Amino acid sequence: MVTKFKTVCLVSDLTERGVAIGFAIDVDRFLNGFVVKFDGQPYAFINRCPHVRTELDWVPGVVFDEQKSFLSCATHGALFDPTTGVCIRGPCINQSLVALPVRVIGEEVCVAF
Ligand code: FES
Repeated sequence: MVTKFKTVCLVSDLTERGVAIGFAIDVDRFLNGFVVKFDGQPYAFINRCPHVRTELDWVPGVVFDEQKSFLSCATHGALFDPTTGVCIRGPCINQSLVALPVRVIGEEVCVAF
């Protein structure tokens, strides 16, 4: 897999602690990523929980907990720091989502994968 920055959405597509924007990383391996906006910054992760490696969201793009403080896995409720991906509560505590490098270039949100 070649790693380079690719445009996944526009800055204006992201809402603070809102719905995540998903993108395909490797269609053949059913591997996807998502980007969210938290405290004004975009953060991107591979959409794969470290617990049993399912995607976090049952409803597409719904990855924040009710308080909009943490990313949440819909399967068993793990909570992750949205700035680092580290699990702070749940069955995979201290494990981490795989964070992807993000750059904002003009209006474009670009993620390396
Ligand atoms: S699959 Fe995510 S917490 Fe279990």
